Amino acid sequence: MRCIALENGRFYDRIVDDPKINEFQNVKIQIKAISFNPIDAQIKRGMSESKLAASSILGRECAGIITETSAEVKNFKVGDKVCVYVSNMGSNGTFAEFVTVPSKIICKISGDISLEQAATLPLSCTALQAVERAKIRPEHSIFLAGGAGGVGSVLVSLLKLYPHAKLSTTFGSSESRERLLRLGLEEDQIFDYRTPDQDLMKKLLDFNGGHAFDIVFDTVGNNLSKICAEILQPFGKYLDITAFTTAEAREVLFDKAAEIHCIANYAYGYWRESASFYSNIGKYAEMMAELFALINDGKLPPPEVEIVGGFSSETVSLALERLEQNKSFGKKLVMSV
Ligand SMILES: NC(=O)c1ccc[n+]([C@@H]2O[C@H](COP(=O)([O-])OP(=O)(O)OC[C@H]3O[C@@H](n4cnc5c(N)ncnc54)[C@H](OP(=O)(O)O)[C@@H]3O)[C@@H](O)[C@H]2O)c1
Repeated sequence: MRCIALENGRFYDRIVDDPKINEFQNVKIQIKAISFNPIDAQIKRGMSESKLAASSILGRECAGIITETSAEVKNFKVGDKVCVYVSNMGSNGTFAEFVTVPSKIICKISGDISLEQAATLPLSCTALQAVERAKIRPEHSIFLAGGAGGVGSVLVSLLKLYPHAKLSTTFGSSESRERLLRLGLEEDQIFDYRTPDQDLMKKLLDFNGGHAFDIVFDTVGNNLSKICAEILQPFGKYLDITAFTTAEAREVLFDKAAEIHCIANYAYGYWRESASFYSNIGKYAEMMAELFALINDGKLPPPEVEIVGGFSSETVSLALERLEQNKSFGKKLVMSV
């Protein structure tokens, strides 16, 4: 099969043997669409997640068509259109024509959702996991750092389904501002993060009636993590979606005895090497089924995707570069095969 492999920090087009199904990876999928994730750019740079990469073929999410299953797989058949958060649970990453994966993590595509849109649903599981873990109550005020981004925009839409007192978020360009308004937020809920820090914090607190926030979702990290920490209530909840919290922010969070939730979408499949540590990998299929139901019921907008190009190392490099340069403009970047 064709694949795109990372070798010495660069992507190359390669031909390798097709993966084979086995007892664990018991379904083979012909990949039709691949969604890009900033984590792949971080792995390429050798950052923290690179230790989790199980193959030189990166890529974490895809949609495609089942071409083979082992005899014990009863709930899927050849020809089913599916999407899957492969992460490190597959034979290889998703920058490939085929992948074998455990049937437990696969979700059938339902409704009018295209393969390209479906390929991005695994990314939305991050937002769903964060919202579930936050245990939002109607009296809670919420600040979301990065509401116009890939994860952030799904959070904005999901949060509408969880009654809360107030929601504010950030933007850094006119495209992002317009995107947030299109998602249904009002002008007074959205704040330009290019404002000097002290002014930005004052504006956010003023918006919340002079009170610090009960919950913050951080999809940006770095400088924004400090702002998130500063405007959080003592004992408030900080949902860390980036792992880019600064030491300064951590100190503030500690002083406030914050309840810190690390949101790592890959965590359910993390302990692959030891069954006794294995988490609930079926959760991925459950979360995607929930997202399909919300989209098909009109409660969540279908993903906005942009097809960056066809299957090639150039497309991978271009898409990851755009993610790193903050040039996805809220759309999910996808490669078609
Ligand atoms: N924990 C997990 O399992 C998981 C899963 C997926 C992604 N992630 C991580 O979550 C983060 C966001 O991913 P994504 O796919 O949503 O990325 P994205 O689509 O590129 O969105 C990035 C967001 O960050 C904002 N931003 C960029 N630079 C900023 C700055 N200097 N100050 C303030 N805001 C800034 C952008 O705002 P504007 O567009 O308005 O400039 C945008 O809203 C990444 O670090 C990614 O690695 C984690």
